[in-house]
Formats: sequence, C-alpha cells, structure tokens
Amino acid sequence: MNESSNLDELLASRASHGRRKIEPCTVVIFGASGDLTARKLIPALYHLALENALPQPYRIIGFARRDKTDESFRAELREALNQFSRTKPVNEEVWSKFAANLSYCQADISDAAGYRKLKELIDRSGDERLKTNLLFYLATNPSQFGEISQHLSEVGLLQKCENGGCMQRLVVEKPFGHDLPSAKELNAELIRHAHESQIFRIDHYLGKETVQNILTFRFSNSIFEHLWNRDTVDHVQITVAEKLGVGSRGGYYEESGAMRDMVQNHVLQVLSLIGMEPPVSLEAESVRDEKVKLLKSIRPMTPADMAKNIVRGQYFAGEVDGDPRPAYRSEPKVNPKSNVETFVAMKLWIDNWRWSGVPFYLRTGKNLPVSASEVRIQFKPAPNILFAARSGVKLDPNSITLRLQPNEGITLRFNGKVPGAATKLQPVRMRFSYDSEFGAYTPEAYERLLLEAIASDATLFIRRDEVETAWDIVDAIRDSWTGRPLTNREFYLAGTWGPTAADELLAADGREWKNPQPVR
Ligand code: BG6
Repeated sequence: MNESSNLDELLASRASHGRRKIEPCTVVIFGASGDLTARKLIPALYHLALENALPQPYRIIGFARRDKTDESFRAELREALNQFSRTKPVNEEVWSKFAANLSYCQADISDAAGYRKLKELIDRSGDERLKTNLLFYLATNPSQFGEISQHLSEVGLLQKCENGGCMQRLVVEKPFGHDLPSAKELNAELIRHAHESQIFRIDHYLGKETVQNILTFRFSNSIFEHLWNRDTVDHVQITVAEKLGVGSRGGYYEESGAMRDMVQNHVLQVLSLIGMEPPVSLEAESVRDEKVKLLKSIRPMTPADMAKNIVRGQYFAGEVDGDPRPAYRSEPKVNPKSNVETFVAMKLWIDNWRWSGVPFYLRTGKNLPVSASEVRIQFKPAPNILFAARSGVKLDPNSITLRLQPNEGITLRFNGKVPGAATKLQPVRMRFSYDSEFGAYTPEAYERLLLEAIASDATLFIRRDEVETAWDIVDAIRDSWTGRPLTNREFYLAGTWGPTAADELLAADGREWKNPQPVR
C-alpha cells in the first residue's frame, strides 16, 4: 500500500468517527426570567432558528418563579430581542415559528410540584424524541444546581448514564464554585444525578470563533507549529483587557475579583489552548486531556515566587476615553475599604518539554484604556550581526499576535528593508482579518455553545478535572494575598494599564508589555 492510500484510509476512518448528529430536543431553561435568558440565550436560539441550525422539531421551555403565561413570556422575549439581537430587524416570520415552540412553566425551583408540572408539559410533546432528549440549562445561582438536578432526577427527567447512554444533559453557567473545595462540592452534587459526560460547564470564551481558531491555527499549519516551542519562542503575553469598570456588578465582584472572575476561567482557558500539545484527535476527551495536562504543568509557586511574579491592582478614580470613572471603592455595593483586585498580572512557567524556560505573562483588568483580548507570541531575536551591526539598531524580534476580540485577526510582525540606499530596517506586518476574509459574520459565543450542547459535543465545555485544576492554581495565588491589604503601589488610575508593578514585572526580565491597539 502506498503512502497516499494509507492516508486516505486514515482520513476516512477518523472522519466518520467524529461526526455528530443533531437530534430533536427539548431545551429547558431554569432561571428563565433572568438577564442571561433575555440577553444571551434566547437571542442565540433565535439566531440558530434563523440559520436553520436547530433540530426539527424542537421545544424551549422557560422555568421560573414569576407569574407569566406562555403569551406574556413570548411577548417579553420578543421585546428583549429588539434590544439584544445581533441582527436587526428581527425576522417576524422566523420569530413567530420560533415563538410557537416556546412555552413557560411557572414554578419555584425548590418545589417538587413544579418538576411534576414540567414533566407533564414535556410529556405532552407530540414527538416522542422531545420527551427523552432533554437539555437542562441551569441559568441560576450555582447554589441551586444540586437541588434542581435532584428534583429532575426524582421525577424521572434526569437519569444518570454513561457516555451517550441517555440523552439528558445539564448545562451549567459560571461561577463554578468560588474555590477548589466549593467546586468539588458542586461537582459531587451534580455527579450524584448525572454522569460527567452529561454535564456541560460553560466558559463563554470557548464559544468565541477566535478562541476556537487557536487550535486550527496551531495544528493545521505546519509553518507555525514548528515554531511553537522553547527553541524559538522568547515569551508569550496574554492580555484580556476591558474598558468597563465593575459598574452595577459591585456586589458580585466583591466576592470574585479579577482572579475568580477572569483568570480561573477565561484567561487559563486561552493559556491552555495556546500551550497544549496536539491532541490525538478532535474528540472532546482528547482535546480536554491535553488542556488539563497543560494546566497541570504550570509550576507551583512558593510564597516568595508569588510575591515576585504576581501583581494585583485596584483602580482608583480616573478617566477612560474622557469618561470619568469612580474608584472601585466608590462603586455601588463595594466596601469602601475593599482589597478586591480589579487587575492581575502574572508570570507563569510551564514545566514541560515544549515550554521549559519560556515565561508566560498574563494580565487582565477592568477600567483599562482599551477593550481587547490578545495573545502575543514573541520570538527570540535574530543575532545582532549583519543588519543590526550595520545599522547600529537592535533588530525588532518577530511576533505573531492573535487578536481574539475585537478587530479579530492574526498579525505577523517581521523586519523589512526600507527602500533606499541606506541599510535601514523597519518592522512590517502581515495581517489576516476575519472581517475582510469572511465578512462581518460574528456569531455570538452562546450560539455555538448551545448548538454543541444540543449535539452532545463536550469539546467546548470544561471538564471536571479542568475546573478543579484551574481552582487549584487560583486558590494558591489568592491565599498568598490573605491578610495583606493593598499597598499604594497596587492601585492604578482608571484608564491606565494597571499598576506600575505590572510593568516592572516584565522590565525585571528586560521585556515590556505590548499593549493591544484600540479599534481604529
Ligand atoms: C465574564 C465576566 O465572564 O466575562 C465579566 O464575569 C467580563 O466580568 C466578561 O466582563 C468578559 O467577556 P467578553 O466576552 O466581553 O470578553
């Protein structure tokens, strides 16, 4: 057999293995009167209907305490769609078909009778498959996850069964615990009524096209993957910056801070995709195995390392784009003496064969000058002989920047000769832009995530060991802050790139942050 027929055989066997089927399904949303349902879930489901991506038939049932009829529930959501739909105007024909599949179940989450009512409602579905293929979306407080799953299990709507044995799934929102013990407890509660393969933990960053493209970029292009290691990479920077302050979310933020709100989930997820080894296949478990391995390779730090490598910050009053911003301590529902961090920067080492000796610098914060998420792979510089020696200027090291949002794209930066007789070099850029290549198609993360959950594909969801490993990392850092109030050098002016200590973190290594550019 020659090499190419060998390859064809491999492709054929792998391709049929990974195919998913989208079966008729009932989606039940717990917490259906909440913000997430109106802002994200219903607009996402409506867009899936608009694109003919939902299975046929399908049903959507909202479960919540407030008194509503099917009609008033639909009318409210129709109203919300005017505001939150990513495409406008709303297509009335699609909406009216969509609305016909929407119903409301008024019940209290802790009342067993409500679940019997839900079961009756589900059992009245015309199509048999809508009675057994069930997706429960828990858009509620995590403290209610255990109770909901127990009630569902008692009325027979949720059965625990292994790998695809039954078609009932739980989709759960963050925050998934507030530390490792609480995450374990939450996992234990869910596992009592559902198998791990039936639990879909959301991190909306994984629903973003650009985040999914990290694996495509790395593992479908031989030119880049060869460079993705300690031989050529000097360091990696991951920035998740937001112009917004905490605004009305002070109460929540006081309990979370940037570490729990952003690092434990979104930032570590991006890091794991950037750093992981190639998975053996694109099956959910293969991809998630590699992500967990990467997180487990992060070097644990001693308290002394943490004091040196982790910078926290909190904003005080300043301006973002000329807009005055109050200090974090003056935000509504925030303790005026709060020590909660609104900014974190850190240096991590990944102790594996690929990344040994390559520092990863991560930062995230609120009230920064720009809203942008970026990963910058900074390569080692070329030797300072030849052109550098001739021009007397150090060469700009090459870099690849993955712009995750907004202005989604990838930029390769390298040196070019400025035309003319002098040996003058200048960094130039090659840029791939999603917009110009694919048009302005920017689906909401929730569209993709809901579709994947309906199809029972867990690749874009967080596995139990992943969430627990991430908490382990974050808890150790947070513990090192216990009993240490913020010092003056840990505050930053709203509208700046965090406390000066964040710049010093890189300066100590002879490096500097490359700040994402604002949208032009
Ligand atoms: C959420 C955090 O998970 O992510 C918010 O709770 C944050 O504080 C948001 O603003 C950022 O998401 P995005 O998609 O706007 O980058």
